[in-house]
Amino acid sequence: MNPLNLRNLLLLPFLTLLACTPARKLAVYPFQYSVQKKAEATHGAVVSAHPLASQVGLAILKKGGNAFDAAIATQLTLAVVYPGAGNIGGGGFLVGQTAAGKTLALDFRETAPAAAHRDLYLDAQGAVHPTKSISGHLSGGVPGTVAGLFETHRYARLPFRDLIAPAIELAEGGFAITEHEAAGLNHFRDSFLKYNSRPTAFVRATPWKAGDTLRQTELAATLRRIRDEGLPGFYGGETARLVVEEMQRGGGIISAADLSAYTAKWREPLRFAYKGYEVVSMPMPSSGGTLLAQMLRMTEGYPLAAYGHNSAAAVQLMTEVERRAFADRAEHMGDADFYPVPQAGLLDSAYLRARMRDYVPGRAGSSTLTGPGAPRKVSEQTTHLSVLDADGNAVSVTTTLNNSYGSKTVIGGAGFLLNDEMDDFSAKPGVPNLYGAVGGEANAIAPGKRMLSSMTPSIVLQNGRPWAVVGTPGGTTIPTSVFQSIVNLVDFRLDPEAAVNRPKFHHQWLPDVVYVEKGFPVEVRQQLEAMGYKLEERPQIGRTELIQVLPGGRMVAIGDGRGDDAAAGY
Ligand code: GLY
Repeated sequence: MNPLNLRNLLLLPFLTLLACTPARKLAVYPFQYSVQKKAEATHGAVVSAHPLASQVGLAILKKGGNAFDAAIATQLTLAVVYPGAGNIGGGGFLVGQTAAGKTLALDFRETAPAAAHRDLYLDAQGAVHPTKSISGHLSGGVPGTVAGLFETHRYARLPFRDLIAPAIELAEGGFAITEHEAAGLNHFRDSFLKYNSRPTAFVRATPWKAGDTLRQTELAATLRRIRDEGLPGFYGGETARLVVEEMQRGGGIISAADLSAYTAKWREPLRFAYKGYEVVSMPMPSSGGTLLAQMLRMTEGYPLAAYGHNSAAAVQLMTEVERRAFADRAEHMGDADFYPVPQAGLLDSAYLRARMRDYVPGRAGSSTLTGPGAPRKVSEQTTHLSVLDADGNAVSVTTTLNNSYGSKTVIGGAGFLLNDEMDDFSAKPGVPNLYGAVGGEANAIAPGKRMLSSMTPSIVLQNGRPWAVVGTPGGTTIPTSVFQSIVNLVDFRLDPEAAVNRPKFHHQWLPDVVYVEKGFPVEVRQQLEAMGYKLEERPQIGRTELIQVLPGGRMVAIGDGRGDDAAAGY
């Protein structure tokens, strides 16, 4: 247990009285909760970035909902209690498996508005504008989350109105914010003021502190329109009118026609074998599943487990496979509806073996010498939640506004933050985006196109049944964090808590740097430097939400120790 903090717990009873919210109706206590990092369960488990969201998911499971119901309710709750990344103004991906064994991949990624074009973010001299793709109205793609939620509902049991009710109540009645949330809202105060001409719920006269109440009445009204009108409650009518008005106030280009044209798309899940397990992950327009498959399979010819977890030999091998996969990402990956991604070639066994020919154990590789391959032409803020129920329904959802609090623009009158996902396109070949990722033709901006993602919601199957449900936020570090979490479980046989929380590392081809997380063993850093690697420390890499099924069928859900992430189960 990691209590919100003592001072605030002491305050909470008073806040509860003052707020008079219908906590019992919600089955959660918006002003009195703590962060539970681990939950063991036999009936069902939920893990997400916020304790209230995980508890709402748990309440839905207890009410008779399945993992899909719980995922929808958890996601909607995150849109209220975790405004930095939970969202209805963003997009994402879902990977699932039904109790009957059907695997699913749902793409609710944002699209470029019809008025977008390849050079949208270039000035007259051809230089990329430093902020327009990252903050403010022009950085937003057409949101996909609400369409994704309604598609997900095809596999749910309970009425949608029951699943959205907790989110409405939390938005209307408010909830006590965590210390992390208070810090985030204070940090971005100036941006909220800069990118909004109307007052927003996120700015107030005095700094936020843990335990303060955040009420979002405009967001509650939008959620009620979604409840009452379904998809048109978001993509048409009053909400669409408010979006268009906001665009006009701030120079954005999302139109009513863009909103009404948006559709979430079911994709063929990416499936591949790894050491006796089968991994199910996300295909394009997320690079995540393809990178994960490439990285896991490029390690296969080497005795990774014998090297030892986070040993210099293991980290070097994994760094070199990350380098090669990310070089391919920059050159070959984008929305496959718009660009001929050589998908089969990228995953071809002979190709992946050939990619490792210039790997030299004990000596640092080079991103200048090792660029993208030539596969056969065949053909920091996001959030993740994992849910598993006793019937075997498994749901892995990663969703995002892109940067923390997205574009920082709140749709006036509708109360939700717009994403800044346009920055995930390649604004100009070779020019890095927010995450330092480069790209080219494959990921150039085009109207209606989906920007390349790194999100990697995944399920690992054993004998066809869910064995691990896993995913994380973290921009380009997402595929490498999922890669390392799976290797930690499968190769190094770490327990799920250690698999999530041990320090991680990341290489993405360019820049040619190994990022190591704070706390990474000093002697391993020194050994890597001696091999010729350039290292940089990052305060954190990823926030992994993992559910693993133990022998005998018990589930263990682990919320990452790096944030407010919380597990729930029964
Ligand atoms: N916005 C981060 C990603 O989609 O990868």
